[in-house]
Amino acid sequence: MPREQGQFAVNADEAGADWWRDAVVYQVYVRSFADSNGDGIGDLAGLRDRLPYLRDLGVDAIWLTPFYRSPMIDGGYDVTDYRTVDPMFGDLDDFDAMTADAHALGLRVIIDVVPNHTSSAHAWFQAALAAAPGSPERERYLFRDGRGPDGAEPPNDWESIFGGDAWTRVPDGQWYLHIFDPEQPDLNWELPEVRAEFEDILRFWLDRGVDGFRVDVAHGNIKAPGLPDVGYSSRTGRNQRQSRLLEGTVLPYFDQDGVHEIYRSWRRILDSYPGRMAVAEAWASTPERLARYVGPDELHQVFNFDFLHATWSVDSFRKVIDTALAEANLVGAPTTWVLSNHDKRRHVTRYGSGEVGLRRGRAAALMMLALPGVAYLYQGEELGLEEVLDIPDELRQDPAFRRTGESRDGCRVPLPWAGQTAPYGFGTGGSWLPAPATWAGRTVAAQDGVAGSTLELYRAALRLRRAETALGGGELTWLQAEPGVLAFRRGELTCVVNLGSEPVDVRRYGAPILASEPLDEDLLPVDGAAWLKPVPLG
Ligand code: NOJ
Ligand code: CA
Repeated sequence: MPREQGQFAVNADEAGADWWRDAVVYQVYVRSFADSNGDGIGDLAGLRDRLPYLRDLGVDAIWLTPFYRSPMIDGGYDVTDYRTVDPMFGDLDDFDAMTADAHALGLRVIIDVVPNHTSSAHAWFQAALAAAPGSPERERYLFRDGRGPDGAEPPNDWESIFGGDAWTRVPDGQWYLHIFDPEQPDLNWELPEVRAEFEDILRFWLDRGVDGFRVDVAHGNIKAPGLPDVGYSSRTGRNQRQSRLLEGTVLPYFDQDGVHEIYRSWRRILDSYPGRMAVAEAWASTPERLARYVGPDELHQVFNFDFLHATWSVDSFRKVIDTALAEANLVGAPTTWVLSNHDKRRHVTRYGSGEVGLRRGRAAALMMLALPGVAYLYQGEELGLEEVLDIPDELRQDPAFRRTGESRDGCRVPLPWAGQTAPYGFGTGGSWLPAPATWAGRTVAAQDGVAGSTLELYRAALRLRRAETALGGGELTWLQAEPGVLAFRRGELTCVVNLGSEPVDVRRYGAPILASEPLDEDLLPVDGAAWLKPVPLG
C-alpha cells in the first residue's frame, strides 16, 4: 500500500516501527534554518513555524543538529549540558512544542547526540581542571603526563582533526586529549560513570518523544589501550576524507573494537521504546568495518559517505552503490545515501560550477531518491543552493579555519525563504553568516509553484517516492546502458542518469514520469536524470 503522509501514529504503532528503513530524512541545521526573534540566529520556534514547509516537501523525518547549551565553538558540537536547550535556540518548552507539532504533521524527530567529547565549559571538565592529576574528576577525560624533559612534549603523536596537536597542556603540566578542538575534550569511555551518564541522556530525550539519534563521531569513543603513537603524520582530517587511503589501517583513536559494546547497550535502550532508531556518523578504514556499526543488536544505520565522495562518473557511482548495497545486505540494514551535510561542500558546487553544477546536483538527487534505503537531505539542497565561497575570513566561524585554512561555513549560510535582499526572510534581524546577494532567485518563495524549479523537482520526486512502493525498500537491478549512462530498475520504475557527453534517447527505458531537465523529444540531456515507467500496452 502506498504510504500516505500523516497516516501513521508517530512513535508508537507496530506498523510504523520500521519507518526508518526507507525514510527520507531532512537535516535541519538549526542555527541556519529560520530565526523567530530577529537575533540573526535560527531557533526552535523558527523551525516549528516552518514545519508545514517540510511536511509539504514530503520528507518523513527531520534530524536536528545540536541545540544544547553550548559556547558554540564548534557549532554546538561542544556541549555544556546535554539536557538543556541553549537560550540562543529557545528552551525545553520550545523543543516539546516543536516535537508535538512535528508529530502531528507526521514528521519524526531525530536529534544529535555528541558522546565523544564535551565542551570545555562542561561542569565535568571544569571540575577536572580544578582537581589534581590522578583525581576521579580527571579520570572522566583523557589526562596524561607529557613526554620529554619536564613532560613538555605531548603524550603521543596524535593530531587533531581540526589541525595541530590533539593534546593541550594545563597549568599543572598534564595534558588532555581532544581529537577535535581544544575546547572539545575527549571523554573517557572506559569509565562506567560516563556510559551511565549517556544512557541516561538517551532516556531523557526518548522520554520526551524523540524518534531517534544521530550519533556524532560514533567511531571515536574508545581509544587503543596505552594510547600508542600513530607513527606517522596522520593528517587525520585528510585521512577521514580519503579514508580509502588508509585501507586496512585502524587508527588508535578511531574505530576501535570496543566501541561496539557501547552501541549494543544503546540498542537495548532504543529497543525498549517502540519505533526508535539511531544512525551513526562513523568513519572506518573499510566498508566491512563500517558495516559493523549496524545490525539487529547495534545501531540501525550508518552514514555512507562514499556516495558523497563519488565523482561524476558511471564507474564511480556504480562502484559505490554496489559496495554499499552489498555491505548493507550482509547485516540486514538499510543503506543510507547522503549528498550534502553541514560538514561538506554542497554537492551542486562539488559537481561543477554554475549551471553545470546545478544540473548535476538535480540529477544526483533523482538518482539518490530512486536508490533502495534511506536518503538524508541537507537543508537548502531542495533549493539548489551552492556553497558560498566568498564569506569574508573575519566572519567565518568554523574553528578548523584558523588552524587549517579550511572552513565549513559555506554550506551553513542561513536558508533563503523569500524576498529580494539578504537574509531573504530568514528573520527580521540579519543573519549570523551573510547570504549572497545572488540568492533572490533561490528562495523558497521564488521557486514555490514554479514548474521546473529545484524545489518543485524535489517535491515531485518525494511525492512519487511515497506513491511508488518499489522505491525506498526493495531491490535494484542494473540495466545495460549506453556509455556514460547509469540505468537501474526498481520494480516498475527505471532511473536513467546521463553522466556522458551526448544526449541519450530514453524511449527504450519507458515513458518519463519525472526528469531533472526538460527532455528534447525523447532525448535526456547531458547531466540530466529521469524516472520512467513502462509504456502501457494498447
Ligand atoms: C562531526 C560533526 O558533523 C561536525 O560538525 C563536528 O565538528 C565533529 N563531528 C565534532 O563533533
Ligand atoms: Ca533567533
